[in-house]
Amino acid sequence: MQSKEKKEKEAHKFWNTQPVPQNESDVQEDGVIEHKEVSDIKQEPYKLPSDFEWYLVDINNEKDRTDVYTLLSQNYVEDSDAVFRFDYSPEFLQWALQPPGWKQDWHLGVRVASNKKIVAFISGIPANLSVHESKLHLVEINFLCVHKKLRSKRLAPVLIKEITRRVNLTGIFQAVYTAGVNLPTPISICRYFHRPLNPKKLCEVGFSQLPHNTTMASHIKKYKLDVSFLNLQPMQEGDVSQVTALLNEFLSQFEFHQVFSEEEVRHMMLPIKDVVFSYVAKDENDNVTDFTAFYSLPSSIARNPKHTHIHAAYLFYYAPKGLGKDQTRSRHLMNDTLILAKQANFDVVNCLGLSHNQQFLDELKFGKGDGYLHYYLYNYRCKTIQPEQMGLVML
Ligand SMILES: CC(C)(COP(=O)(O)OP(=O)(O)OC[C@H]1O[C@@H](n2cnc3c(N)ncnc32)[C@H](O)[C@@H]1OP(=O)(O)O)[C@@H](O)C(=O)NCCC(=O)NCCS
Repeated sequence: MQSKEKKEKEAHKFWNTQPVPQNESDVQEDGVIEHKEVSDIKQEPYKLPSDFEWYLVDINNEKDRTDVYTLLSQNYVEDSDAVFRFDYSPEFLQWALQPPGWKQDWHLGVRVASNKKIVAFISGIPANLSVHESKLHLVEINFLCVHKKLRSKRLAPVLIKEITRRVNLTGIFQAVYTAGVNLPTPISICRYFHRPLNPKKLCEVGFSQLPHNTTMASHIKKYKLDVSFLNLQPMQEGDVSQVTALLNEFLSQFEFHQVFSEEEVRHMMLPIKDVVFSYVAKDENDNVTDFTAFYSLPSSIARNPKHTHIHAAYLFYYAPKGLGKDQTRSRHLMNDTLILAKQANFDVVNCLGLSHNQQFLDELKFGKGDGYLHYYLYNYRCKTIQPEQMGLVML
């Protein structure tokens, strides 16, 4: 074996045993890696280290919801300096974990057996994806978290194997997941972009820096938003069917994208206070012409005397009139999205450099972030997807 390949093998003791491509040269064409049947899947859960037990979280139960929220708010994803940490709200988790077809069996916690404290979590939700020419019914895996005091004890692989087993028992053998870290083997790598709405606060908390030779006054002025172009109104129940059609048509331009049913759009896209914000523009016949949505994902700030959180809006899905062929329309839609996020008191709008986002990032003054999001498929080979061909946004 070549020494570089050998090193890669040794570097991923767990992922080297899983049905994922070990490197890009493993992917000549798309397709399932391991063919399995439900009858091949073992009935018994994987063993946890003694002192721990599996626990199915009831996300509709206030205590369980608070316990998962507490685990994530104290132990979930941080920036490299451990200053900013994602602070998904309990209401957000309740929404995110229960799209149509959700299963409590896939809201998997680990508790300390003696005091019942939840110390690890992983979740799956069902979804339909279109990947190149194929349709995949799979799960989206999200919210993998191990308590800081239990890190590096190989608990994450047990969580991943156990949720895989539970999903496999329902006849689903593929998953999609994202991570900041590089694992074997990303199908796409998308950069984060940030559009300041409250530039002064972002400087105060160290999220951004005041550029050299710039005064705060001119920095603030740079990010002012005044002109709006479309008469965006909050999306309502009556818009679900038209938004579904418009969004699916927009997404179908990309090599990799989610395919939404009306029920999924109803659940995922209708506004929920402080969780998800969505808007439509309509023509004179009351037909939906444009759609845009963002979700609220604050980050807590460690050790700051003045501010406890950055209130970030994450660009979720959108579909402009003309499906992005009219770039000016796309920019107008996004400009108005920024104005609505500002009115809702967000400090920043974050997004990934995927799908058609390049059409507006520079013009609307999004800055390049340090972070990259890696997309992965489990048990499915997929030729590399360029960011501008990526049409899946996860929470
Ligand atoms: C991600 C996390 C659960 C991993 O747990 P850990 O205690 O650090 O690592 P463990 O010893 O249990 O397991 C290590 C294995 O998990 C893999 N792993 C680490 N992060 C991973 C991720 N985000 N997704 C999938 N696998 C991951 C490692 O690559 C390693 O496998 P390898 O030897 O094949 O490379 C933990 O670091 C954590 O909770 N971090 C903060 C939240 C977070 O980043 N969650 C993931 C969001 S995508």
